[in-house]
Order: sequence, then C-alpha cells, then structure tokens
Amino acid sequence: MGIFKFMTPEIIFGTNSLSQIGESLLRLGAKKVFVVSDEGVLNSGWVERAVQYLKDCKLDYCLWTEPTPNPKDYEVEKGVHAYIESGCNSVVGIGGGSAIDAAKSVALLATNGGTIRQYEGVDLVTSPLPPMVMAPTTAGSGSEVSQFAIIGNSTRKVKMTIVSKSLIPDIAIIDPLTLMTKDARLTAHTGMDVLTHAIESYISLAATPMTEGYSLQAIRLIAEYLRPSVASRHNREAKEAMAMASLQAGIAFSNAILGAVHAMSHQLGGLLDLPHGEMNSILLPYVLEYNLISCPEKFKNISAAFGENVDILSLTGAAGKAIKAVKELAGDLDIPDSLRNLNLKEDQIDFMSLNAVQDACMTTNPRDMKAADVKLLFRRALGGGF
Ligand SMILES: [Fe+2]
Repeated sequence: MGIFKFMTPEIIFGTNSLSQIGESLLRLGAKKVFVVSDEGVLNSGWVERAVQYLKDCKLDYCLWTEPTPNPKDYEVEKGVHAYIESGCNSVVGIGGGSAIDAAKSVALLATNGGTIRQYEGVDLVTSPLPPMVMAPTTAGSGSEVSQFAIIGNSTRKVKMTIVSKSLIPDIAIIDPLTLMTKDARLTAHTGMDVLTHAIESYISLAATPMTEGYSLQAIRLIAEYLRPSVASRHNREAKEAMAMASLQAGIAFSNAILGAVHAMSHQLGGLLDLPHGEMNSILLPYVLEYNLISCPEKFKNISAAFGENVDILSLTGAAGKAIKAVKELAGDLDIPDSLRNLNLKEDQIDFMSLNAVQDACMTTNPRDMKAADVKLLFRRALGGGF
C-alpha cells in the first residue's frame, strides 16, 4: 500500500439539520453570506427556509440564483462579481451538484482571482477560500463533501474538472427532508449518479482501505433503498438511506477519484448539456463490462453488496452479477439502456472520445483506455440493448 491522504469536511447529518446553517456560519466567522442556489430549488422553498435560519442568527445575506444545470464558466465569473460587490465574507450553496459546484467556484475565484479555466486540473488553487457551508437538496452529487468542482467551458464545449483540497467545504449539512420535494425522475437520475460514484470509487486505482468501506456501504444502501425512494417522495426511511448513501459515496470518490464513466459523461454534459446522472446510468454497464477483467474480485464484492449469493458461483460468474444488478436497477427506474435517441454524429463521438481521455477522472480508471477504446464504448452505448 502506498502513501495516501483522506479528507472530509465537518458533517452535520439528520432530519431538520438545515436549521443548523446559521450557527454553523457564525462558528466560521461569517458576517454576510453569499447564498448560491438555482431557480428550481428556490421554488421548492428550501432557500427561503435557509435564509430564515440566517436571519434568526442575525446574519446578513445576498442571494444569487443564476447558475443553470451543468454550470458554465461565464456564470461563475458573473457570480464572483456579484460576490465582491455584495461585500459578503462567506459562501453557502443550497441545491444539487450544479448549485454547489457554482458556489465552490465563486468562492475559489473570490480569493484566488483570474478565470475559472485557470484552475482546471489538480491542485492549482493556492490561496485559502472564504468559509463555505454546503447543503445538498439531492442525493446526489456528493459535491458538499468533495474536493471537486465541475464547470462547463463554454468555448471548448467540455466540462472542466477542478480538483483541490481547498474546494472541500468547511461544513456539509445533509438534511434528508430536502429530498422529499424531488420528483421520481430526478430522484432516479441522482440516485444512479450516487451508484456510479460508489462503484467507480471502489474500483478506482486510487481506492484505499479508508474509501473502500464507504463505497461498499453506499452500494448496499442503494441496492435496498433507491427503488423505494423513487417510488414515493414520502418514504422517509428511504430518503434518509439515500442521503447517507450519497454522503458515503461522496466521501469515497472525493478521496479515491472516479473513472471512465464520469470521464465520458462529462463530455456529453459539456457538448450537449445532457443530465449528468442519466448519462452515467446509461454508460455505467458498458464501462463495467470493459473494466471487468481489471479487478474481478472487486466486482464479486459489488455483487455481494447488491445482495447476490456469490459463494455458490465461480469468480467470473460472481463478478458478472454486479453488471446484471446495475442493469436491472436502471431498468426498474425506467432509465434508457442506450444513447440511441441522442442522434450523436460521428464527429461528435470523435471529439468526445479525444476529450474523455484527457479528463482527470480517466487517470484512476482501473483498465487503461485510449481514445479508440472510448469511441468503441460510445458506439456500444449507441447500439443499446446491452
Ligand atoms: Fe457524478
């Protein structure tokens, strides 16, 4: 085993934990808070509630809700102007991964300056960020505990992966009640994103004993609770379990990084602005089939985490059950099994394949992958039908 490090923010988890947001900010020295969210979350009422908790603690605030899904570089740069003009000294993100990534990126530029493109890659942030508290309302991106921010480059039409321990928020507040306002489709897509985080972090080349336990426990929770969470927005037990799965998978992937599924889905998001979780769900079985020979023992453990009786099977048979379980779960959630309906063109596949091998997430994929391999997988995913 080589040298590794492991980091998490302070975590506040539980029903009604959003009520802790004001006190959390006061502990960090906040005076005026830049609250980042988006229109969808605004309509759900969670921002209004969070702002009331800030007022209860006599904290001033400025609300900024301009980021769109798959946030873009120019949006972040508008956001940092608003932050500086407002005189805020701290940042809150409330929402899904898009709002939280935008919030973290505004915080980055507030103290480091320049444009967000300058920070694409690993460990390019040198100055400390303002105090950050993040409250996710999906389960989810894991961005509230991660050292990642994913921002679209509007010129190159790719998603930039920014990795720095400075991007880990000071405090993550995870309130499962916020999941009860999400519809079935969003719950399914974000839940499959969590599964992709758990599996890719588990088989990552950078996985460690500190991350593997979190990855496997997240898979166990998803196997048991994602279907009931999608079935009913009122199932509190399922919402709590999926919030925990998202948290555990987020801790795992923040420290172990991800793999080819994310490297490829970032291209679909960057070029075509497609939903991240749905794209991951479609790509996951194809990439797993490709990755299977790299670590069949780990695939066997994933099968066991899905509840398969692996003791009676050969290693190959047990490992294969993991892919079958992923396909069955996506099928039960009515997620398509191919990219066929996207009408992708040959030159778009070439462009995305070349960019995918440059994505930071590709470096930890357990099987080597060249642009030609990525292209083949995109082609398989276009054919569909597993
Ligand atoms: Fe993701």
